[in-house]
Amino acid sequence: MSKSARMSTLIKPPKVAWNPTERRLLRAAGIADLRDVARRAVPRMVFDYCDGAADSERSLSRARETFANIEFQPSVLRDVSHLDTSRTVLGKRQKLPFALAPVGFNRVMHAEGEPAVASVAQQFGIPYSVSTLATTSLADVAAAAPEGRHWFQLYFAEDRAMVKELIALAEEAKFDTILLTLDTPISVPRRRDIRNGLTIPPSMSVGTIAEAFLHPGWWMRQWRAGTPSPQVLKATGGSASDMIKRVFNPRLSIDDVEWLRGAWSGKLVAKGVQSVADARRVADVGVDGVWLSTHGGRKLDRAPVPVELLPHVVDEVGDRVEVLVDTGITSGADIVAAIALGATAAVVGRAYQYGLMAGGRRGVVRAMEILSREIEVTMKLLGVSSVGELNRSHVRFR
Ligand SMILES: Cc1cc2nc3c(=O)[nH]c(=O)nc-3n(C[C@H](O)[C@H](O)[C@H](O)COP(=O)(O)O)c2cc1C
Repeated sequence: MSKSARMSTLIKPPKVAWNPTERRLLRAAGIADLRDVARRAVPRMVFDYCDGAADSERSLSRARETFANIEFQPSVLRDVSHLDTSRTVLGKRQKLPFALAPVGFNRVMHAEGEPAVASVAQQFGIPYSVSTLATTSLADVAAAAPEGRHWFQLYFAEDRAMVKELIALAEEAKFDTILLTLDTPISVPRRRDIRNGLTIPPSMSVGTIAEAFLHPGWWMRQWRAGTPSPQVLKATGGSASDMIKRVFNPRLSIDDVEWLRGAWSGKLVAKGVQSVADARRVADVGVDGVWLSTHGGRKLDRAPVPVELLPHVVDEVGDRVEVLVDTGITSGADIVAAIALGATAAVVGRAYQYGLMAGGRRGVVRAMEILSREIEVTMKLLGVSSVGELNRSHVRFR
């Protein structure tokens, strides 16, 4: 080979993405980078609504720190040339050992909203949880990802007729799992949202409109798509703010969980369990899964760290129910650690929402690429070739 030919193989023009969003997404090497792109892509009140947590935000920061402090214990001399990242979760095989958590108001983060997320979840072979506060109807989510698996997150309102209507919607749209959220008896505004003047559903003040003009792309898309509103609740009637107030139920009791068990023939998961005792109580009334969560640290400040509770809950009820865990997961390594500690599946919220804010559907794809690649790398370097091999010997809390 001539000298000039050798040089031309060395000096290859880099892959250029002409679209600025695409360029930023390609450069995002981890979820933290995606968060930075998101922060610049949307108005501050939108970013803070998603990124923020309750009060001092310690529930969230402690959960993230706990994950970061988990130390891996690898084994060497293992054949990791073939890797199987699939896992059976609540009766169905999926390609990766995690799911996407329910997040309200996806169309506020990006006008493409829930249908975009559902189609990415379908592409990567994992379940997508749709919130009671979703800005797309359950039927439209199902239509956007007809081969996907969808879970419905239920806020169990005081009005039983409303609950029955919501269950019927989930049934009609062929959702196979209900996630009953237990950690939100009341709705309390978060400090960042108060400071930003955020209202749900969003209303624009002079200040927020001025801020929105700094992000014309977000603004234009919202303008074209129209004001996002809660489309699942729409079927139950009333004004948007009235509907939202009605879904939180300070009287929710274990009898309601038992009633729901009888009323819903699909899989039922109790989301927002924060103690071993409560895990036992919900397992006793026949739920299929216990989801350890502090709602991403968005409700009780200084709440227990779900991943710390995980092995204790698995020891107590793991032979009867599947145990899922979320809050504070920002990498594929965190997902692997959660599985090693006994979770059937981990669940991520903000990690994919950062992608959605950063670039709509394409941003969610980027988040999934990052997380799935990190899962593969962590498993191989740990010396395991399938999810089922992961166990407590692979991790320790420092
Ligand atoms: C912006 C936002 C909105 C959320 N909305 C809901 C909701 O409507 N229902 C629900 O059960 N959980 C909701 N959650 C909590 C998530 O389902 C999940 O528990 C949490 O995001 C996990 O923590 P992580 O964000 O650190 O991954 C929301 C979380 C965020 C960040």
